[in-house]
Amino acid sequence: MVSLTADMSPLHPDRNLALELVRATEAAAIRSVPFIGRGQKELADGAAVDAMRAFLTTVNFDGLIVIGEGEKDNAPMLFNGEHVGTGRGPQCDIAVDPIDGTTLTAEGRNNALSVLAVSDRGTMLDASSVFYMDKIVTGPAGVGVVDIRLPVAENIERLAKALGKRVDELVVSVLNRPRHQKLIQEIRDAGAGTRLMSDGDVAGGINAARYNARTDMCIGVGGSPEGIVTASAIKALGGHIQGRLWPRDDDEKQRGIDAGLKLDDYVYEAEELVTGNNTIFVATGVTNGELVAGVRRSGGEHIVTESVVIRGASGTLRRITSEHLASKWL
Ligand code: FBP
Repeated sequence: MVSLTADMSPLHPDRNLALELVRATEAAAIRSVPFIGRGQKELADGAAVDAMRAFLTTVNFDGLIVIGEGEKDNAPMLFNGEHVGTGRGPQCDIAVDPIDGTTLTAEGRNNALSVLAVSDRGTMLDASSVFYMDKIVTGPAGVGVVDIRLPVAENIERLAKALGKRVDELVVSVLNRPRHQKLIQEIRDAGAGTRLMSDGDVAGGINAARYNARTDMCIGVGGSPEGIVTASAIKALGGHIQGRLWPRDDDEKQRGIDAGLKLDDYVYEAEELVTGNNTIFVATGVTNGELVAGVRRSGGEHIVTESVVIRGASGTLRRITSEHLASKWL
């Protein structure tokens, strides 16, 4: 298997793939800015997709989109199974989410991100035939401590003990959805606090796993693609993630089975969501959030973006602040 760290291109022997990939999320974030707060999430997403696609085309790798914007006929670009990049360099799987939080963007709310994740070819689970996944995410303290099969109150108690905190000091983030009403009540009954997210559980998961995080656990049902993207970052951060596919009906369950996925409450461990540790996760803020700041104009002439790069091979989270000459983006 070709390593992501070894760029074989004769043209750019020293290129750092992680830095190349950040250009794509930066571009997607910048191009979605005109649509922030404009109430048209499809237009925001379309602008981000086009920009991400244009930049990925120039990256020296052979990227196979495992998690994209959908099937070919519905998504003209960045569709599942499409190859992106120059075709030279390492063979990789790639998951893209040009905007995680399209509604957040359209409504001008916090926590929208442009995200992508890359791993060695054949290592990313293609869970796209089942839309939702039940997930549990914590930082390193939760490894070998929490388990998605346990009642939430027990996980809270175990995690509090591992963190050396009182249960009432624990904060659990959950997407604010009717399907989570019971779960939210159970968290509160257990004595922990909740952080209800209106959208964006990729950022929610990473925030729960980060060093010095303000939340301790992120649980509940969100998108399956988001689960895979999140897993690539959580593994790199040394955190805990498990996922369980959550089909909405029998037809969707059957589609999952036909695609070779494991259902019936099967628990995917982190290593099955993304195999190996040769992963790169990059995210750029579209709107302001706890993980990264959103795109801002500085002095009229510059556009400032903030990104994180999380590498599995080194276990590092790097922050990249870029100042872009606004005139180049007209
Ligand atoms: P989009 O930006 O693609 O709409 O995703 C936002 C999001 O909140 C994800 O972060 C989350 O995994 C998923 O939607 C949850 O789906 P739903 O809104 O249907 O509950």
